[in-house]
Amino acid sequence: MLETATVPITRDPMLPQPYVVRHVTKETPDTFSLSLEPEDEVNGMAFKPGQFSMLWVFGVGELPISISGDPASPRRLVYTVRSVGNATHAFVSRKVGDTVGVRGPFGTGWPMESARGRDIVVVAGGIGLAPLRPVISEVLNHRQDYGRLVLLYGARSPRDVLYRKELAAWARQAETQVLTTVDYGGLSWHGRVGVVTTLFKFARLQPARSIAMACGPEIMMRFVTRELETQGLKREDIYVSMERNMKCAIGFCGHCQYGPHFICKDGPVFRYDRIQPLLEKYEL
Ligand SMILES: Cc1cc2nc3c(=O)[nH]c(=O)nc-3n(C[C@H](O)[C@H](O)[C@H](O)COP(=O)(O)OP(=O)(O)OC[C@H]3O[C@@H](n4cnc5c(N)ncnc54)[C@H](O)[C@@H]3O)c2cc1C
Ligand code: FES
Repeated sequence: MLETATVPITRDPMLPQPYVVRHVTKETPDTFSLSLEPEDEVNGMAFKPGQFSMLWVFGVGELPISISGDPASPRRLVYTVRSVGNATHAFVSRKVGDTVGVRGPFGTGWPMESARGRDIVVVAGGIGLAPLRPVISEVLNHRQDYGRLVLLYGARSPRDVLYRKELAAWARQAETQVLTTVDYGGLSWHGRVGVVTTLFKFARLQPARSIAMACGPEIMMRFVTRELETQGLKREDIYVSMERNMKCAIGFCGHCQYGPHFICKDGPVFRYDRIQPLLEKYEL
């Protein structure tokens, strides 16, 4: 009797899958979270915290966006997007019921395996909290697997603070410290004012048992990585997520080259000791 070989069905990574917009949330005046579900009855898209998708807005273009939803719900993909130009504006203007194309997930994720049993220090600036939100979901979904969670978050102004309700809910969790600051406060802001690195003096850290994950503007990450080292974290315990323009997202086109790395496949999450000299160079 002939045996039938099982041929794995692999999706063409260049072919966008149709997804329907199910929910739109206004996070700040220019930033929206869209929840998408697959149009057909496929199983959804399992992803690791830190991975990204290529989102195709038909008739406009394609853009790389981190998956910011809960990895425990792979049928519902959430993206938090700041409207900065043509493609992001077109994406955040989609309405419930509209269809967009999704490729991915792509790239490396945050080091959740290495983080098991250790304290996790999350440092985010602005929209950089979006790729880190799945880390927080993962830790809270499997609380016993991880040590303390310390979140340091900086936004430009009070109206730019993302995920306000979740920040408050996370702060109420056991073994969790959440500190938020803004660059410019204004009269109605009674919280902390200053860049994100000013939060370190309030953070209860145990550097020897900590692993750090940081995402934000590159200038912020230069200062944050230096501060983490000053606090006593080793370079190999610090991870950063990088951004560059992308086209293929699978290591073919070279658009996302960063020194010897392609950010789409070697990143976007990198161990700091592997890119430290590159991160120190401006305009690379
Ligand atoms: C791996 C990855 C994950 C990302 N995740 C998110 C996310 O979760 N949420 C989100 O809002 N954005 C995210 N971005 C950035 C997003 O892809 C860009 O903002 C978007 O491509 C800009 O397209 P646009 O046509 O709207 O603007 P454009 O007209 O192309 O550019 C508008 C402005 O944004 C700048 N810009 C364009 N692309 C980038 C980029 N990749 N990095 C930094 N500045 C850029 C331009 O220099 C210009 O000043 C991510 C980028 C990468 C590479
Ligand atoms: S986007 Fe094409 S090589 Fe990275």
